[in-house]
Amino acid sequence: MALSWAAGSPRLLLGWGLLLWGATVGASKVEVSMLEMVEVELGQTARIPCNFSLPGESHYAYINWFHIDKHSRTKIYYMVRGQEFEVDPEYKGRVAMENDFTLTISRVTLQDARTFVCQVGAGSLGVGENRTRLHIYKTPEPPEIQVNDAGIPVTSKEIPKIAVCVSKNGFPAPNITWYKNGSPLWQDDTQVSILSTLIKESSGLYTVSSNLFARVSREDRQSRFHCEVSYRLLGADQTAASEKVNVTVFYSTENLSLMIQSPQPQVREGDDVTLRCEGDGNPPPEYNLLKVQEGAQPEERDLPSSNGVLILRKVKKEDSGQYLCRTFDLDSMMKLEDTVELSVNYLEGLKITPEGPIQLQQGEVVTLTCDARGSKPLEFRWKKEKKGKLLRSGKQLKLNNVTLESSGNYSCEVAVTGVPGLSRSKQVNVAVHTKPHISSKDSLVPVQQNELVTLMCKAAALPEPTITWSINGKVQNHTDHHRVISNLTVQVTSKLLQSGVTCTATNEVGNSSHHITLQLRTMTTPPPSGNTTAEPIKKEQKTQESKGVIIVAVIVCILVIAVLGAVLYFLHKKGKIPCNRTGKQDITRPDARKDEIVVEVKSDKLPEETGLLQGANSEKRPASDQAEKYIDLRN
Ligand SMILES: *[C@@H]1O[C@H](CO)[C@@H](O)[C@H](O)[C@H]1NC(C)=O
Ligand SMILES: *[C@@H]1O[C@H](CO)[C@@H](O)[C@H](O)[C@H]1NC(C)=O
Ligand SMILES: *[C@@H]1O[C@H](CO)[C@@H](O)[C@H](O)[C@H]1NC(C)=O
Ligand SMILES: *[C@@H]1O[C@H](CO)[C@@H](O)[C@H](O)[C@H]1NC(C)=O
Ligand SMILES: *[C@@H]1O[C@H](CO)[C@@H](O)[C@H](O)[C@H]1NC(C)=O
Ligand SMILES: *[C@@H]1O[C@H](CO)[C@@H](O)[C@H](O)[C@H]1NC(C)=O
Ligand SMILES: *[C@@H]1O[C@H](CO)[C@@H](O)[C@H](O)[C@H]1NC(C)=O
Ligand SMILES: *[C@@H]1O[C@H](CO)[C@@H](O)[C@H](O)[C@H]1NC(C)=O
Ligand SMILES: *[C@@H]1O[C@H](CO)[C@@H](O)[C@H](O)[C@H]1NC(C)=O
Ligand SMILES: *[C@@H]1O[C@H](CO)[C@@H](O)[C@H](O)[C@H]1NC(C)=O
Ligand SMILES: *[C@@H]1O[C@H](CO)[C@@H](O)[C@H](O)[C@H]1NC(C)=O
Repeated sequence: MALSWAAGSPRLLLGWGLLLWGATVGASKVEVSMLEMVEVELGQTARIPCNFSLPGESHYAYINWFHIDKHSRTKIYYMVRGQEFEVDPEYKGRVAMENDFTLTISRVTLQDARTFVCQVGAGSLGVGENRTRLHIYKTPEPPEIQVNDAGIPVTSKEIPKIAVCVSKNGFPAPNITWYKNGSPLWQDDTQVSILSTLIKESSGLYTVSSNLFARVSREDRQSRFHCEVSYRLLGADQTAASEKVNVTVFYSTENLSLMIQSPQPQVREGDDVTLRCEGDGNPPPEYNLLKVQEGAQPEERDLPSSNGVLILRKVKKEDSGQYLCRTFDLDSMMKLEDTVELSVNYLEGLKITPEGPIQLQQGEVVTLTCDARGSKPLEFRWKKEKKGKLLRSGKQLKLNNVTLESSGNYSCEVAVTGVPGLSRSKQVNVAVHTKPHISSKDSLVPVQQNELVTLMCKAAALPEPTITWSINGKVQNHTDHHRVISNLTVQVTSKLLQSGVTCTATNEVGNSSHHITLQLRTMTTPPPSGNTTAEPIKKEQKTQESKGVIIVAVIVCILVIAVLGAVLYFLHKKGKIPCNRTGKQDITRPDARKDEIVVEVKSDKLPEETGLLQGANSEKRPASDQAEKYIDLRN
């Protein structure tokens, strides 16, 4: 109280000054101006301004504040000559006046929601007053929603209760609005019923609760409900929404479906297959899975499923057939069924006729036939060796006029048309028996007395031949399928020079021999250029050295030929040299000459070449012929 007065005095002085200023410009009678309504939240401080103006130099004599209940007014506060008085015990200690004559009421209660009057007396100028209604509000607590969690059957006869919404302690009483999927729901007698109750708490605040009753359909299993509380605050509409809830809706099964789930659309033997039965009822019905046994009198066999799911592991073709899912709805007393056809693709009985291993003689003809059984048309493909290229598409493969090269494994691949990943393969061995064929044609080997020379003999045949030599020496063999290579290393003696060496390849079919003559190398006759000459393996070192020399020689030759060509061309132009077919023509075609020389160098480089023992006179062949032979041997 004392504090209030002490705080009030400086503000009052200021108020006096304002008044004096106001009197010099103001009107000539006491006019009080007040707000029609003031809003304040419960427990806060309300401020009720009171404006007035006095004419001339006059000033107010007193200010009275009243509150009005019904028709009686009660004075709660007044001020005379700067002195403040609180008179009503209800407001004692809660009211004060600011220096602009605004009345403040602290810790407002619900009872303060009434009309307040400010009365200003100014002696001879008379008395003026005006009034303000004080509104108290209290924001209600956010609405709480509680859903009917027992679940709602769509067949319910009464309109079922969906949820209840409660908003506590508001003032004045708030409203509750219901929403389904964001759209407001209004009371209507057949589908929606809203029942609200308002409770005035002992505190004077209102608690509003609202029950929503509504019919539901099976679609409402996805509906979201919420409520909203609306109240007014500082002249504006405010709302607060509850959380959104869904309801459990019970409905009977209308549609039933039985599905096959497998790694790919076409089921193969060995796949894991899942049969899944699903009804659209809530709660899901009891399912029975059955297999329909085909026959004159189809019978049904119960399958052990759990909640309509059956996993068939590693299916066989016997698992093919019709499957049935059945359910019985207790509500509607209806029996529902769905069937599905499982067809397991298979491939079996793969065989090749004639059965291997197959033995043939050179020139014979054989037809290989591949057969199998499958769930769908089959595709046959023949290959030589599993990774080889495709020989033929179709069941049969005909081998005409077979040779040693026709020997090998023939593989038949079978695939089921339109079923990815379902294929098998089988192979048959074909052996064409031939008498050995010796492919090393080199018969004359230049040697030096006493040197160690290695002679090579190559033979191909089936059955695999054995190679024997006419003399003893160090023998090294290498076998690759039907090809055999034998190297003989011996020291050159005069006896050997005389007799030569024979290699013989033998197998069950026959034999063939090859004679190699050894000839002393004469230093005076170097091998003529343009003709390929075999050299003994021992001379490898030398040939490699000579390569460099030959390359240099070739380059020099080319340069000389080029210069010569230029000079000749020049002379020819000048008419000094007649143009006729002589040996000189070669010189005028330097490019052709160059090619020839290069071929020779290449043939020298061939590893095969160095190993081949070649004569100088009888077996002389052009370079191109030599290359051909080289390819032949490799095949
Ligand atoms: C009360 O104050 C309002 C606002 O200033 C004014 O419009 C109204 O005329 C006043 N009423 C009286 C009776 O003076
Ligand atoms: C009181 O007077 C002041 C200054 O003249 C003005 O700003 C205010 O709006 C007035 N209040 C009312 C309630 O008339
Ligand atoms: C509450 O609803 C009533 C009737 O619909 C309406 O008159 C009133 O203004 C509403 N109150 C609020 C705070 O929305
Ligand atoms: C509401 O929906 C959620 C998923 O959307 C579900 O998990 C929950 O069980 C539902 N609650 C009710 C009462 O249906
Ligand atoms: C049941 O299936 C039928 C035909 O497929 C369809 O028209 C109907 O809408 C489905 N019912 C439900 C509840 O899904
Ligand atoms: C069979 O092959 C051999 C060697 O390849 C050939 O000489 C002969 O003409 C062929 N015979 C037929 C009928 O094709
Ligand atoms: C043919 O198959 C057999 C066994 O599968 C194998 O041992 C043999 O090496 C194969 N022959 C060829 C030429 O690949
Ligand atoms: C080479 O093969 C022949 C028969 O083909 C055999 O007699 C000889 O022992 C073999 N030599 C070596 C070193 O394997
Ligand atoms: C035989 O000699 C040739 C040429 O030197 C060599 O490439 C091959 O490996 C030898 N073969 C054997 C079985 O020693
Ligand atoms: C090689 O075959 C001929 C007949 O073609 C036979 O007279 C000779 O004895 C055979 N030689 C050997 C070593 O088998
Ligand atoms: C070189 O080969 C040719 C055929 O290309 C031949 O006419 C000539 O006689 C051969 N020379 C010698 C020295 O063998």
